[in-house]
Amino acid sequence: ASTLGAAAAQSGRYFGTAIAAGRLGDSAYTTIANREFNMVTPENEMKIDATEPNRNQFNFTQGDRVYNWAVQNGKRVRGHTLAWHGQQPGWMQSLSGSDLRSAMINHINGVMAHYKGKIYSWDVVNEAYADSGGGRRDSNLQRTGNDWIEVAFRTARAADPAAKLCYNDYNIENWTWAKTQGVYNMVKDFKSRGVPIDCVGFQSHFNSGSAYNSNFRTTLQSFAALGVDVQITELDVQGASATTYANITNDCLAVPRCNGMTVWGVRDSDSWRSGDTPLLFDGNGNKKPAYTSVLNAL
Ligand code: XIL
Repeated sequence: ASTLGAAAAQSGRYFGTAIAAGRLGDSAYTTIANREFNMVTPENEMKIDATEPNRNQFNFTQGDRVYNWAVQNGKRVRGHTLAWHGQQPGWMQSLSGSDLRSAMINHINGVMAHYKGKIYSWDVVNEAYADSGGGRRDSNLQRTGNDWIEVAFRTARAADPAAKLCYNDYNIENWTWAKTQGVYNMVKDFKSRGVPIDCVGFQSHFNSGSAYNSNFRTTLQSFAALGVDVQITELDVQGASATTYANITNDCLAVPRCNGMTVWGVRDSDSWRSGDTPLLFDGNGNKKPAYTSVLNAL
């Protein structure tokens, strides 16, 4: 195969990218994105601040731009993200307790109803664990009660039974890290109690502080053994080492339930990590060595 999407499809997997609505007018960008990828994650357009800027006033203008571009070009969409401490609109940041709990449920219902039956998988909850210690991150959502995550997943299942429901986080790739074990224990608990969860997203933003480690494969295998799909959801690698990209690809391929990978942007110039060159295409749209190593691994 000569593209990432087609190469991943050879083993029944997808290969995706984050897409920004604001770049859809750039034909160099859309040409590469359309050619190489068969899954799309809106980079910001389905987040809480974008979709519910005022309480109970939903706005899907930007989300629909990305969604429509994807579907018109034959791609599937990962929804990102419904319950998160980040990129909350001002009105939500100031809520707490049962009022915030109701607002979270209303938000999940409102967004999932709009996209009902159209989304491959939703990142229902994003980044709920603390960076160290293995426990929950302190946030307004966490302060509504420890059960907020399972409430979000149960709400999501009822809102769109066709979508796969994922928990998504960063720094859970290294099996030896407490944060990884914290999330693993949550998923294990959810599966044992019948809380609806279908997948775990490993953001995979690798850099010097959280470097790729070969035990990532153990992590993917261990989570998959709990009975969930695992997906690499926001991949970028500081410096874009071709070897590291190949290793990550091979880790996913080694795990039957690792059913897809998504890079967090098309060209280095599209990356959220300014000053870094972590992606598969350079700013001129040329394929980098990391691109070739991923394509050859797939
Ligand atoms: C980032 C986007 O790439 C930026 O454009 C935005 O300014 C901030 O958010 N984890 C996530 C993503 O789950 O939503 C984040 O995306 C990157 C880290």
